[in-house]
Amino acid sequence: MISRAQAIAAGKVSGDELQQLCAQASQWREQHWGKTVTYSRKVFVPLTNMCRDTCSYCTFVKHPDSPQAYIMTPEQVLKVVAEGQQLGCKEVLFSLGEKPERRYPQVRARLELMGYASMTDYLEQMCQQVIEHSDMLPHVNAGTLSLQEMRQLKPVSASMGMMLENISPRLLLKGNVHYACPDKVPKQRLRTLERAGQLDIPFTTGILIGIGENWQERVDSLIAINEIHQQYGHIQEVIVQNFCAKEDTAMANAAEPDLDDMLRTLAVARLILDPSISLQAPPNLQQRYRAYLNSGINDFGGISPLTIDHINPERAWPQISQLAQASSDCGYQLRERLAVYPKYQKSPQRYFAASIATRLDSIARADGLAAVQCL
Ligand SMILES: C[S@@+](CC[C@H](N)C(=O)[O-])C[C@H]1O[C@@H](n2cnc3c(N)ncnc32)[C@H](O)[C@@H]1O
Ligand code: SF4
Repeated sequence: MISRAQAIAAGKVSGDELQQLCAQASQWREQHWGKTVTYSRKVFVPLTNMCRDTCSYCTFVKHPDSPQAYIMTPEQVLKVVAEGQQLGCKEVLFSLGEKPERRYPQVRARLELMGYASMTDYLEQMCQQVIEHSDMLPHVNAGTLSLQEMRQLKPVSASMGMMLENISPRLLLKGNVHYACPDKVPKQRLRTLERAGQLDIPFTTGILIGIGENWQERVDSLIAINEIHQQYGHIQEVIVQNFCAKEDTAMANAAEPDLDDMLRTLAVARLILDPSISLQAPPNLQQRYRAYLNSGINDFGGISPLTIDHINPERAWPQISQLAQASSDCGYQLRERLAVYPKYQKSPQRYFAASIATRLDSIARADGLAAVQCL
């Protein structure tokens, strides 16, 4: 573990010093996670790509007037779920724009036609359908949520997630990435993390790097996540996600974080965070599996044999066999996990509704990983 001062000083390391930092993080990971590295086999369900925010790195979002804007129908959702189940997926990741109906009357009208007052109501119903029509576990990534919304979604989801992105309020200023984005106000994001803790919801969060933050702000974001976890114990994983520049966005020409920056951040995250928190880096955004493993990660996140990465459609998922080989070359065994990490499965009454606990019992093996391993 390292102090804030040490973490801030690590922002400048390179060459041999960076290798030492990564080796330290890697050893720390091994003490707590051993030689196992995991992934979750899932389908992505982008329930809507409309959003009341306009983050300047995001191409997923579409204005309601765009012909590409949509709300998936129940039939479309259940088709993806059924196909995913056939391919051995165990997690349904609902990832969507934030509360578009509060900004756009046209979205409100579309939802009303479908019989729903809000996107959260529709999401709840779709999670329920997943439970009824499949053997999979819903995981909800809908951005900031109120206590009431979280209470509503907890009985129909195994876990939830929301990237903190970064704690810096500077990013909200005019000309910065989160300008005029009410759901990217750090206080609101932190409140969502706290509410999840109060409600005992196993939660995924993380930081997005390369969006105009400085190193100290990155370190402080990781410390803020860790502090909330110390209070509630519910942060099951932290993702370090690297910004990818997209055409037709305000950040089209912004520099993407380089590999050293990513490795430095992963190593420092591993050393700041409670070691029981899983550390994840997406395998499709830089394809440097070995370097990531040697910097302290223990998880490659969600990978789908069916659906594309709707946020980064240009970045294909790696083959699971490639990941398994890279892991084995570094001395690790790739294993398939579920949406909920083993630690939380040991306290079902605290963390899950009865239907979710029963589902977990039927698809997890004794150590909490997937009973049927697709490798
Ligand atoms: C599309 S959003 C959906 C959930 C919700 N709207 C939110 O922003 O939290 C999911 C995540 O995609 C990530 N994302 C969006 N654009 C990205 C980009 N250009 N590069 C890397 N990650 C990106 C952000 O970190 C965001 O948290
Ligand atoms: S990143 Fe999330 S909140 Fe931001 S515009 Fe995209 S969908 Fe909306």
